[in-house]
Amino acid sequence: MVVAAPKSLLRFLTCGSVDDGKSTLIGRLLFDTRAVPDDQMAALERDSKAVGTQGSSIDFALLVDGLSAEREQGITIDVAYRFFATETRKFIAADTPGHEQYTRNMVTGASTADAAVILVDARKGVLVQTRRHSFLCALLGIRKVVLAVNKMDLIGWDRAAFAAIAQEYRAFAESIGLTDVTPIALSGLTGEGVASASPLSDQTLLSWLEAVETVDTEAASSFRMPVQWVNRPDPDFRGYAGLIVSGSVRPGDRVRVLPSGRESRIARIVAMPDDLGEAQTGQAVTLTLADEIDVSRGAVIAAADAPPQVADQFEATVVWMDEDALSPGRSYLLKIGARTVTAQVTALKHKVNVNTLEKLAARRLELNDISVCNISLDRPIAFEPYETNRDMGGFILIDRITNRTVGAGMIRFALRRADNIHWQAIDVTREARAQMKGQRGRVIWLTGLSGAGKSTIANLVDRRLHALGRHTYLLDGDNVRHGLNRDLGFTEEDRVENIRRVAEVARLMADAGLIVITAFISPFRAERRMARELMGEGEFIEVFVDAPLEVAEARDVKGLYAKARAGLLKNFTGIDSPYEPPEQADIVIDTTAMSAVEAAEAIVERVLGG
Ligand code: ADX
Repeated sequence: MVVAAPKSLLRFLTCGSVDDGKSTLIGRLLFDTRAVPDDQMAALERDSKAVGTQGSSIDFALLVDGLSAEREQGITIDVAYRFFATETRKFIAADTPGHEQYTRNMVTGASTADAAVILVDARKGVLVQTRRHSFLCALLGIRKVVLAVNKMDLIGWDRAAFAAIAQEYRAFAESIGLTDVTPIALSGLTGEGVASASPLSDQTLLSWLEAVETVDTEAASSFRMPVQWVNRPDPDFRGYAGLIVSGSVRPGDRVRVLPSGRESRIARIVAMPDDLGEAQTGQAVTLTLADEIDVSRGAVIAAADAPPQVADQFEATVVWMDEDALSPGRSYLLKIGARTVTAQVTALKHKVNVNTLEKLAARRLELNDISVCNISLDRPIAFEPYETNRDMGGFILIDRITNRTVGAGMIRFALRRADNIHWQAIDVTREARAQMKGQRGRVIWLTGLSGAGKSTIANLVDRRLHALGRHTYLLDGDNVRHGLNRDLGFTEEDRVENIRRVAEVARLMADAGLIVITAFISPFRAERRMARELMGEGEFIEVFVDAPLEVAEARDVKGLYAKARAGLLKNFTGIDSPYEPPEQADIVIDTTAMSAVEAAEAIVERVLGG
């Protein structure tokens, strides 16, 4: 493997608490170095954020965006970025609060850091929080660590005490995979050991920061570029824009597009005024391919001879960042690189007590919890283990309803390879479609008078099932009559046709594996029976939303009963058009005794139970 030259920009994380003297130390570093010139500052600031917008590591900008919503709820995310420079290097220091409740802040800061400065107080030595910080650094892929033993002046630069702390820490660090640890004795207050020699050593924190070699594994490995967007200004030009997250690329290189697996060659690396002869890790480029193959946003263009794996099931480490707990089985959006898919945590293997590193059994994940779990996606993705490539293995989880970023994760390995992308060539049966969704296609048929509460209950059932990760669709009378059944009125024939079409559509959707909820008056037994007969045994659940006419009329949410009574609306159900109550409904909801929420719960329970 090629080891690239030390980066001219070093991103590092500082871990420790105010008690350890972190602010003093950072102040000292800034004092002993120079500020970054204004003209370079903007670029650095952009860099500290752009890592995310361009799709690098755990999408940093997204994390910040997502968490900003929580600021309004009084929860703050607090990562301060400080910029400084010496003759040799420029630095971005990510400073995060050290307390346990700020785990997610540390994750945000650490996901883009090359190195970490872990601070301890010489008088206290290695503490529980030192272990926690170190564990998170290891988890987030930071391999180079300084153990900064601060306040050495307060213990008279006691060499033996320093050595004892260093030894204790090394033993622990090794147990969690941090093997590259440099202990440095220093005093943030006097500056000794920070930028000037200390009584114990000539090596200073600053000299370490200037010299530390971060092996640029991404630059050294094979070419990968997640497609951020497809550029198609005219039919003759199709460019694929994105950030190169590893390796380099030249025109003529053979590439494979994932997850489709199609191959082509790089035609051009488009740039102004002239095309490029080569592009490398960290560069944002637009590529064109020699063949017209289908490449969509979110695909990964990779070296054909060393493509990344493709899979739809993983073991991953997840850090939960939301007040609402993660429940296995609920579905979330998972964003990795430029691709967004639907994901479910299928099993929580264990969570980790970040203070003791104990593995604990878990049924749900709460704010700041860290867990190893299995994740299942609705579609395969191209990926690499986070340990190998942060960009190809780091992801975030997004709540589908609120759009909040609720978790960050790191892929460990695939549980099942999805290399054989031809598996869809098997006969796709009704059963296969349902199985893929992990459910059975069904129709929940709500019937009742206008104003009985069908739409309200149907909507609640839909939301509930959706939140539980079920694939659903809601067909509602008022909505369908705006589209598919726009040509139908409320005569008896039209109502029959209305229900016939709706039953057919519901059947098609159930064939596709969906749980379909319908909310139509469907006043006639014959049509309800027809709808039932389209479905298999147990797949049609008739729900009678029962409200006596007086009750529905008294509610008169839409004012239609009043119009009907006034003779302004003909053929109104219950007034001058009949309603035939079900004789053997699967579920009867007495709306005078049950709230809509209770009704929805009863229906969901019945559907999931049966
Ligand atoms: S169905 O009888 O054909 O099943 P559907 O459920 O699609 O009726 O539509 C009922 C909705 O249409 C009612 O909730 C009401 O808002 C509206 N509507 C308008 N005219 C009538 C009418 N004459 N009878 C019943 N509902 C009507």
